[in-house]
Order: sequence, then structure tokens, then C-alpha cells
Amino acid sequence: MNDKPYELAFPQHGDERGYLVAIEGGSDVPFEIKRIFYIYGSDEKVVRGRHANKNSQFVLINVAGSCKVRVCDTSGEERVYVLDHPRMGLYLPAKVWKDMYDFSHDSILLCLSSERYDPDEYIRDYDAFMGLCAEEKA
Ligand code: TYD
Repeated sequence: MNDKPYELAFPQHGDERGYLVAIEGGSDVPFEIKRIFYIYGSDEKVVRGRHANKNSQFVLINVAGSCKVRVCDTSGEERVYVLDHPRMGLYLPAKVWKDMYDFSHDSILLCLSSERYDPDEYIRDYDAFMGLCAEEKA
């Protein structure tokens, strides 16, 4: 399993009819895809996410519009990614804190996940995440 976030540029099939991006689990993204969900109807005032996951890995793709993703990993490294193109993905390993914000009004944020939904693997308390960071460092 990868332990750092990184950006992906998916191959884009284009011709006079437009574009098509195909994503296969295990090759275009580094996990088998067990779940997809998408976020829309957010705007520049809201912050979503605000959690880490014990097990789930994700790839986030703004298939329309744009948003920003602030990612903090257990080493304390923090980085902001701008997602603003449908062929661009952001890989997020498990155990990173993520905030999604600054959504454009037309934003549709597609999320691919390595795991089915399990609310118990979500860490929604930042202090608990900091505790996990300390454990990982020990
Ligand atoms: P939430 O985790 O708060 O969204 P975000 O990560 O954008 O802040 O999820 C919002 C609601 O959707 C919450 O009631 C849980 C539910 N949900 C599912 O039922 N399945 C899922 O796969 C996800 C991600 C959320």
C-alpha cells in the first residue's frame, strides 16, 4: 500500500466527439474499486471531509468544476491540491486527514474507494488523528 498522497493524470481518449476517461481498479488506480460516491451541491463556504480513514484508500476526481483538498499525513506533512480537471486524480492513502473546500458551484467530486462504507473506520476527531500520528511515530 502507498503511504503518501499523489496526483494522477488519467489517459484521455479524445476525438471530434469529445473526451472519454476510463479508470480500471488495480491498474489506473492502485486498488480494486469497491465503492464510488460523489459530492455535488457544495459551494465555496462549506468544508467537507474533516476526517481520516483507518483503512480506506481513495482517488478523488473533480469530474466537473473544481475544489481544493487539504491533506495532512501522519508525519505531519500538509499539502493543498487543486482538483480542476476531469482527467486529474488525487490518490489518498489510508490514515490521512482530509478537508475538501472551495467548491465551485458546478463541482462534482467523484470519489473512488478501496473499501465499502463502514462508519466505524472514520476518524472524525482531529485529536484522535493526532494520537494516531503519535503512535505511528513511536
Ligand atoms: P460524510 O462522510 O459526512 O461526507 P463528507 O466526507 O463529504 O464530509 O457523509 C455524508 C453522509 O453520507 C453521512 O450520513 C454518511 C453517508 N455516507 C454513506 O452512506 N456512504 C458513503 O460511502 C459515504 C462516503 C457517506
